Order: sequence, then structure tokens, then C-alpha cells
Amino acid sequence: MQTRDTDFLIIGSGLAGLTAALRLSAHGQVLLVCKGASDEANTRYAQGGISCVMDPTDSMDEHIQDTLQTGGGLSDESAVRAIIEGGPEQIAELEAAGVRFEHRENRPNEYDLGQEGGHSRRRVLHAGDITGKELIEKLLASAKAESNITVAENWLAIDVVTTGWIGLSGENRCIGCYFLDKPVSEILTVRSPVTVLATGGLGKVYLYTSNPDVATGDGVAMAWRAGLPVRDMEMVQFHPTCLYHPSAGSFLISEAVRGEGARLIDRRGHEFVYDFDERGALAPRDITARAIDSVMKRHGDPFVYIDISHRESDFLQTRFPTLYGMCLNFGFDMALTPVPVVPAAHYSCGGVVAEVNGCTAMDGLYAIGEVASTGLHGANRLASNSLLEAAVCGARCAEAVSKVWKNNPVEGISIPRWECGEAVSSDEAVVVEHDWNEVRSVMWDYVGIVRSDRRLARARRRIRTIREEVASYYRDYLVTADLIELRNLAAVAELIIRCAQQRKESRGLHYNEDWSQKNTQAEHTIIQDKPGGSL
Ligand code: FAD
Ligand code: SIN
Repeated sequence: MQTRDTDFLIIGSGLAGLTAALRLSAHGQVLLVCKGASDEANTRYAQGGISCVMDPTDSMDEHIQDTLQTGGGLSDESAVRAIIEGGPEQIAELEAAGVRFEHRENRPNEYDLGQEGGHSRRRVLHAGDITGKELIEKLLASAKAESNITVAENWLAIDVVTTGWIGLSGENRCIGCYFLDKPVSEILTVRSPVTVLATGGLGKVYLYTSNPDVATGDGVAMAWRAGLPVRDMEMVQFHPTCLYHPSAGSFLISEAVRGEGARLIDRRGHEFVYDFDERGALAPRDITARAIDSVMKRHGDPFVYIDISHRESDFLQTRFPTLYGMCLNFGFDMALTPVPVVPAAHYSCGGVVAEVNGCTAMDGLYAIGEVASTGLHGANRLASNSLLEAAVCGARCAEAVSKVWKNNPVEGISIPRWECGEAVSSDEAVVVEHDWNEVRSVMWDYVGIVRSDRRLARARRRIRTIREEVASYYRDYLVTADLIELRNLAAVAELIIRCAQQRKESRGLHYNEDWSQKNTQAEHTIIQDKPGGSL
């Protein structure tokens, strides 16, 4: 088993991890690890764009108010202010790294700003409808050109290493991480005074999700097993409009399409969202997704429609070239016909409790981007605020780390060999696959957009059984990537359910029909278990 040393270990090569890596490379050696290809991350798939106050007639206060209002009383105003006010500086940094945001035709000094749900103004910078691809390609190119940054692909983080876990006395602190080197199935140890979790989201915990396969909640599960508090895990955002087609794999139809006038209609042509909110299709996502869910259930319809056929074909093909082409491939010309859509799991508003600069409750361990709960999103994220958070918190984290990293020395600490079972199980692969599917189906069926006490209790029993099974596999057999991810997926599923059970009200993204009232006092749901987790 190899041990490798680095000054800064960053797990995750999405916008948060890349931003931190590029800044920290001025201070020492950075090892930037990702579990698949370096460009495979939620960031890559971002369409709508990144929200930021760039229009002189807009104001920080308005963006802050929109964020707080969408957050349903659970946001932390100081975090909201810090992240929103930090936006313009990060946009300038992104542009300096080569990112091109669209400008208005014939007005090269003005950004072409998009409109999305919950925003009282146009304030979303975008690169066509492939903003994420533009971000990740440009930042990855910068990182790969930087001699102080090593990018390691296909290394799957298994667990962070803490001094308490290896039996050292003194305050528990993080000193590195174990990884599975997937292509050769070997365990690697990285020792570092700084471990940054930038591992993104957890959409794969649900059967239907807009997220790519890497989004299995690994960072939340690892932090929780290390004994860190996680909070508001029940606040899972369902994106209202994913393409409904057997081969489309929950392909997202950006909210920016609604920003350009698309309507949501049921199969009878009724624009139902106005029955739920006066903002119609541009209400925040919790309201829109619930409205769609309600209409689908009421009529027994498998989908609703998004309709932008009143806009010119030329406009649609210029503003949404990728979306237009993708829909056309599936037989829907957006300029001529409504497109069938359904909600799908999209974003985790809760996560590892962290400050805006990524500091967590443990020295040496940081959390940034979607894995973290900074207080920005509260009970529901305002559209396009997550890329903003990833960039601002990535930069703030680098700044904080550069000042304190030498206070967490790791020299001389010997990290023990990874212990795992030796046997290879003949039926492991099939059981693991079955359990993967079961976790995702249980979460979709019982812990979705509308919840109840009975369904949550049933889900918890099922997930617990799966976790017990996974724990025994984990003890007895050689670990595989699928097993490691299943262990995380099941742990995160249980955390979502436990938080949902703690919340005796309905707020933001969490709606429980047995507790449909909203309490006067907004409180976080927090889980902190002993290191090792609850099994
Ligand atoms: P990610 O970009 O998800 O990166 C996670 C990284 O962690 C990956 O490199 C992955 O390989 C790595 N990783 C994970 N687990 C491990 C492990 N165990 N070991 C090693 N590496 C690991 N937000 C907006 O603000 N605007 C948008 O327009 C927008 N559109 C979206 C569209 C889609 C389809 C999706 C899915 C999301 C969208 N979002 C949008 C949300 C936004 O893209 C994400 O929240 C944000 O990109 C998260 O960035 P991140 O750096 O935290 O994580
Ligand atoms: C979208 O383009 O609709 C996604 C925006 C987001 O998730 O913030």
C-alpha cells in the first residue's frame, strides 16, 4: 500500500475543487483527486448559469432578499451576504481564466443576463446553455497547466483519516484520506495537513435525477462517519423540468427556458401553476415541483408539458442550441410543440456544516460547494446560486487554508495499513446492484416531493436493512467501487430520512402531509453521531 504526501489534498474537480486548487497552488503542492474523469461532475452539466449582480440597475440587497425569501427562513443571512457580495470578484477571476460569458448582441459591454425562478430580476450569467461545460473546460485546462497541481483521476475516496481514528491522543483532526485506485483495485493513502471535501451532490440516491453517476453523496457520508455534524439533509431539491422520455435519462430542460417565457401546462392545456402561485412558471422550485407532482397525481398523468412554441425557432436555436438539438433528437421541436417533462432529484441544500470559507468542526478538514451546508440555501436553493457558492467558497477556502495549514502538522504520523476482508464474494456484484436499485427506488417512492410519517418510517426500516447488509459485506470482502458508493448512498439515504423525521413541519423543499403547517421558528435539523457512523 502506497502512502503519498501533499500539502493540500482536494477531493473533487468540480467548480468548488478547481477554484480552491488554482488558488492554493500558489502556496504549495496540490493533489486534486476525482473518482472518474476529471471533467465528470455536476458542474459540467450546469445549463442556466451563475447568478451574480452585474447589472447596474440590480443590487446586492435584491439578490440577498430573493435568496432569503426562497430559502424559507432557514438561510443564514451573513453567509448569504458574504457569498452574494463575493460574486463579482469571482466572475472576474473566471473570465481571467478564459471563461466566456455571453454578452448582448451589439452591446459588448453588457452581459446577456438570464431569468430564472425566484429571481426578481435578470441576473444569471451564462455561456449559451452549456455554462458548466465552459467552466470546467477552462478551469481544468488552467489546473493541468499549473506545475503545482497534480490531477489524479479514478481515485475513489473511501474515508478520511483522523488522529482519533488511528488512536492518537489530543484533539481529533484530519490528516489525510484512503482512496481506491479504481483501475488497479489498490488502496492508496494520502497524508496531508489539509483535506478539502469538494465532492458535490447526492442525486443518485433517488431513482430519477438530473445528476451524473458521480453524485453519490460520498463527501457527506465520509464527514458524518468522521463524526462531523450534517444538517438539513431533508432539503433535497427536485428540478421541475426534466425531459420525459425513456431514453433521455432525466435530461434537464433549463429553468432559463421558463425565463424566456415557457409555460407549464397539463395534458389538457391548462396552465396549472397559477393555481399554486401567482408567479406561475417562475415561482421557486419547491412550489413548481410540488405543483407538477400534485397535477400528475390528481390526473394520473405521467408528465406535464413545458411549452415555448410561441417563440421563434431562430431565437430558440440561438439561445438554447444544445437543449433545442437534444429535444429534437427525441422527436420534439421546441418551436412547434410542447415538450413532456417531470421533476427529478437535482440538488442537496443540506450537507456538512461548514463556514463560507469551508472550515468544519474538525481541524484539517474543509467542505466546499454542494457537499457543504453554509447557510446560503436554507430550505430551498435559489436557481443558479450553487455555482456562485462553489466559486466564492472555493476561493475563500483557499484564502483561509493558506493562512493556517501549517498549524496541522502531519510529519512523522504513520497512517496504518487499510484493513479489509480478503475474500471475494461470488454473489457480491449482484447483491450490490440490487441494493443500489432498492435504495434509489425506496427514496423515490417514500422520500420524494411529498412525504408522510408512515412512508418515512417504512423507508427507514428498508434502508437500515440494506445498511446492515452493506456493513457485513464491507467487513468481510474486498472493497469495490460499487460497494463503497453503495455504502455512502445508503448512509446518505438514512441521513435524509432521519432529518425528515426530525422536522415536525413543512418548510421549503420538505413537505410532510402529516405536518403540513410551517412553524413560527425556523430551525435546522442536525445529525451528529459518534465517529464511525450509526452502525
Ligand atoms: P461537482 O461539480 O459535482 O464535483 C464533484 C467532484 O467530486 C467530481 O469531480 C467527482 O468526481 C468528485 N468526487 C465525488 N465523490 C468522490 C470520491 N468519493 N472520491 C473522489 N472524488 C469524488 N447550478 C447553478 O448554479 N446553475 C446551473 O445552471 C446549474 N445547472 C445544473 C444542471 C444540472 C443538470 C445539474 C446536475 C446541476 C446543476 N446545477 C446548477 C448545480 C451545480 O452544477 C452544482 O451544484 C455544482 O456544480 C456543484 O459543484 P461542486 O464543485 O460542489 O461539485
Ligand atoms: C437550470 O438551468 O434550470 C438549472 C439551474 C440550477 O440548478 O441552478
